[in-house]
Amino acid sequence: MRIIHAIDEIRSAVAAWRREGKRVGFVPTLGGLHEGHGSLIDHSTQACDVTVVSIFLNALQFGANEDLKKYPRELDVDAAFCEERGVDVVFAPSHTEMYPREQRTFVEVEELTDGLCGAFRQGHFRGVTTVVTKLLLIVLPDVAFFGEKDGQQLAVVRRMVDDLNIPVRIAAVPTVREADGLAMSTRNRYLQPEERKDAAAVYQGLHAALEQLERGVQDPDVIKQAVRSVFAAHPRLREQYVEVVDAETLQPVTWIGGRVMVAVAVHLGATRLIDNIVFPHSQ
Ligand code: PAJ
Repeated sequence: MRIIHAIDEIRSAVAAWRREGKRVGFVPTLGGLHEGHGSLIDHSTQACDVTVVSIFLNALQFGANEDLKKYPRELDVDAAFCEERGVDVVFAPSHTEMYPREQRTFVEVEELTDGLCGAFRQGHFRGVTTVVTKLLLIVLPDVAFFGEKDGQQLAVVRRMVDDLNIPVRIAAVPTVREADGLAMSTRNRYLQPEERKDAAAVYQGLHAALEQLERGVQDPDVIKQAVRSVFAAHPRLREQYVEVVDAETLQPVTWIGGRVMVAVAVHLGATRLIDNIVFPHSQ
């Protein structure tokens, strides 16, 4: 496995593969890799001839009061993880390689970024869509893999690639969970032992919503109430939002007809966690 830091170098590595007719898979990450990332990598190595994983802690998508400073930076550990999973190249550019001067061009997806996390993390999705565009134009993969765990990010990236005619297929990978249902996340490692126990309630709340949806409930308020009554039993867990939105447009629904996403964000101590389910779950 090669670790590449320079844009020129990753471009020529991928160009050489393309000349050989190889199908290139790409998994963008911030680092702090876990089994969720591992599943994206596995999907890529299975579907593609070669797999590139980017490890880039993109400052542009973190707000001033967010956790950029404490986010794990452990390229050696992450690279070993990638090598074990059969990754061909880790692309790990520095901040100045990606942003050699003040960025004056940004990619923004309107409307889909107004609600859910977009309402609480100003500028976050602009940072995500700008860096994902840059990474896709640098790597030029055939397929890029994104996790359903970040449901809004997935919908926003899909819409961006469609709107801008970026020639890449976006593949969605199901959320990987711990035994108690907690969605795997780099941020789970910040949780104190007591908080970790309460964290299981995030998925329990979504599971309660799923039961209502499977029963045919179509009133979004009833669905939200099902989530909130689980959260209420865990006072340490503070709700940021509980929403029922159209799975594609991410707009809140007043009545459940088509595919919906039930999305939640909570705080547990200093840690912010997000999770979601999509119903009916297609694919
Ligand atoms: P990061 O949080 O490192 O996540 C990288 C990818 O892994 C994302 O597509 C995310 O949805 C997926 N992922 C994380 N946890 C998962 C889980 N438990 N199950 C399945 N997939 C999971 O998302 C980002 O980085 C950044 O915003 C990025 C797209 C790299 C742009 O900087």
